Amino acid sequence: MAEDLNITASTNKTEQYTTLIPQIEALLYDEPDLVANLANISAALKEQFKWFWVGFYLVKDNELVLGPFQGPVACTRIALGKGVCGSAWEQAKTLIVPDVDAFPGHIACSSLSRSEIVVPVFHNNEVVAVLDVDSELLDQFDETDTRYLEQIVKLVSFK
Ligand code: SME
Repeated sequence: MAEDLNITASTNKTEQYTTLIPQIEALLYDEPDLVANLANISAALKEQFKWFWVGFYLVKDNELVLGPFQGPVACTRIALGKGVCGSAWEQAKTLIVPDVDAFPGHIACSSLSRSEIVVPVFHNNEVVAVLDVDSELLDQFDETDTRYLEQIVKLVSFK
């Protein structure tokens, strides 16, 4: 049963993630529905970090299709290799973009987005989705985000 999140006021990223992760585990516990779980992860991350946009794109028929997210409306479909999301999918690895204007082929769903991290989600060694996080500020993401966001997406079960 979902309750209010315990949001830490700390600005230390590690503390923010370590407070949040057990709560995400509790939200996902015993809930097999993929959309429900991706929706709650997006909401929990948005609430703790106040990022501009947090959400998932799901691989469907060899395209990324917009899934559960928190933030302004976004592009619905992204091709393999296109933008940061399509590149993270193609390369099957987390990509950090400190300045989206310096990323060739960045897809500007919103001109307010300035930096971004995209984390692939794997099932049976294949990328089945990506988690996309956008900030309105430059250079907001680092190895701490990579480490914990990769840990968070592993909590999702894609049966
Ligand atoms: N900026 C992304 C597109 C998705 S939106 O930002 C939500 C990209 O270049 O992949």
